[in-house]
Amino acid sequence: MVPAPNPWRLSVAPMMDWTDRHCRFFHRLITRRTRLYTEMVTTGALLHGDVPRHLDYSAEEHPLALQLGGSEPADLAVAARLARQWGYDEVNLNCGCPSERVQRGAFGACLMAEPALVRDGVAAMRDVLGDDLPVTVKHRFGIDRLERDDFVRDFIGTVAEAGCRVFIVHARNAWLQGLSPKENRELPPLRYELVHRLKAEFPQFTIALNGGITTDEQIAEQLQAVDGVMVGREAYHHPALMAGWDARFWGEGTAPVVDDDWRLGLEQQMLAYIERQQAAHGTPWSHITRHLLGLWNGQPGARRWRQVWSDHRQKALPVREVAAAAHAARAGATTAPAPAPGDPACTDPT
Ligand SMILES: Cc1cc2nc3c(=O)[nH]c(=O)nc-3n(C[C@H](O)[C@H](O)[C@H](O)COP(=O)(O)O)c2cc1C
Repeated sequence: MVPAPNPWRLSVAPMMDWTDRHCRFFHRLITRRTRLYTEMVTTGALLHGDVPRHLDYSAEEHPLALQLGGSEPADLAVAARLARQWGYDEVNLNCGCPSERVQRGAFGACLMAEPALVRDGVAAMRDVLGDDLPVTVKHRFGIDRLERDDFVRDFIGTVAEAGCRVFIVHARNAWLQGLSPKENRELPPLRYELVHRLKAEFPQFTIALNGGITTDEQIAEQLQAVDGVMVGREAYHHPALMAGWDARFWGEGTAPVVDDDWRLGLEQQMLAYIERQQAAHGTPWSHITRHLLGLWNGQPGARRWRQVWSDHRQKALPVREVAAAAHAARAGATTAPAPAPGDPACTDPT
């Protein structure tokens, strides 16, 4: 019997403001097996905020990991208990986010300078969870201009003392001074060969690589050297990329033909989902459709289609009317309403 692939073989990265439950539902329609991650949820939000708002999701989203931001072991333990109660499949600790807000909270990438604290946090979560669900860590190589390889090796070695067995490595440093989070995803150089070396040095651990992956060929190439690949921005902006993943990387089914019918079918399923969310929670359709804007990328009329969905003047209309207008626009007709006097021109955020 062929052994089942490890669950971290392929995943979509946690992305704040992007991989919310609606986005994940959409991605799950495209790939049944790929592991999905929530946006980072801080322990503070879970301790003091609206827990269902942060943790609720649709049953279809499994396998699903909750990513936590935090550093206090006792707080992480409370959050881990909630993760189990809500039925998540994994708890992941963010040790890679460089934003100033996160630095002020003393978590994210700055935790790489405190491996013993991360170890204690992982231990506190594992005390709560036992072997019920895995605790994993997503991190970078290091912080600022520190280029010593032993820094990340020591980090992994220390965190592993608490029983962490899965490390997702964003293959670049986080430069904490002077760069925005966006620049921090682009400017520090990617060093895939160092992730390969980590896998060679820690063969007993699951090592997944993240950062800059944009094609199936790159995924396949990296899977020769590491246990898993995590894809972020490309999956979000070009969701069709994921269409063949179940067949190619999980050995399940055959890849669909990615044509107009495939896109229209997805859209129909999302329209039905939108109506269910509207009926159950009053969710405005624009909160969901904003994650779909990459669906027609690369196809004729894609820009016009996106413009209709992004046009704030449409927001009061029923979602199926907007869908029809978007398709008419894609086909070349201009059925979007003319701007009312004083209305700012519509914007295309992509
Ligand atoms: C809009 C956005 C939000 C992000 N938010 C998070 C986050 O909440 N937690 C996290 O660990 N990484 C976050 N990241 C980083 C991604 O998970 C990933 O590490 C990074 O984008 C590199 O992968 P990619 O080149 O495949 O996009 C975010 C990235 C983007 C673009």
